[in-house]
Amino acid sequence: MEEEQECIMHYSRSHKMLLVGKGDFSFSACLARAFGSAKNMVSTSLDCRKTLMVKHPTAKANFEELEKLSCTILHEVDCHTMNNHPFLKSTTFDRIIFNFPHAGFHYRHEHEQEQIICLPRLHQKVVKGFFRSARDMLTTNDEAHVTHKTSHPVNKWEVEKLANEAGLCLAKEVEFQIQDYPGYHNKRGDGNRSDESFPVGMCSTFKFILHIQTIPACTSLDAVACMWLDRYDPIWKPKLRKTRSKHIFKEYFEI
Ligand SMILES: C[S@@+](CC[C@H](N)C(=O)[O-])C[C@H]1O[C@@H](n2cnc3c(N)ncnc32)[C@H](O)[C@@H]1O
Repeated sequence: MEEEQECIMHYSRSHKMLLVGKGDFSFSACLARAFGSAKNMVSTSLDCRKTLMVKHPTAKANFEELEKLSCTILHEVDCHTMNNHPFLKSTTFDRIIFNFPHAGFHYRHEHEQEQIICLPRLHQKVVKGFFRSARDMLTTNDEAHVTHKTSHPVNKWEVEKLANEAGLCLAKEVEFQIQDYPGYHNKRGDGNRSDESFPVGMCSTFKFILHIQTIPACTSLDAVACMWLDRYDPIWKPKLRKTRSKHIFKEYFEI
């Protein structure tokens, strides 16, 4: 039996996680396998199960593994409206994750040739819808993660700007390496090659947090201070984890 891990990259077995826009569910299965449990995990796809099984035959084995590890699997979850989904409504998550958001492929027939047309605005709409909905499912220490390519043309989507417009701000960008997630097969997810992987190339995980103005007014100054110090100050981080001192803000600034 494989040894269970507490963490894999940015994700810990204690995190309450919502995974969105899944392809063959291999990313969720990778995390669940590493943690030896998926009881804190809700993993979702836009497609219904029947369509998904046609698009990604390998999903079956991943469902079986995830279900054995107590993962909640939901289908037909649209990232624009997930905050109003009957099962997810009024729930918050430590991590909300969307890997390689994409609106699908659109085709044009020209001179008897089929061409894929690039519609960045449609992809931006998916990403912005995700941020808007995720914003309502996060509290002060929580993060929404989007992993996407940082090369042309995806770098033109202005993901950070879309997040800002939705009330989130970038906390950190971390280079993404697919080999950090054993068993994960990123999928095109649409068109007649939906089950194929695509080369990830230059790629990052972008971690977003609630913009300071989006944090509910009832949040105390100490809680906000803790959040920022926890995130940005490596010396205070271990101390904060231990004490979560009520007067941390005062102590830190020696006031
Ligand atoms: C390039 S695929 C990536 C699939 C998967 N996340 C992966 O990493 O293998 C893009 C995915 O975005 C999903 N998607 C597109 N629009 C969506 C929406 N409005 N809500 C949820 N998922 C969506 C598609 O169903 C598709 O699976």
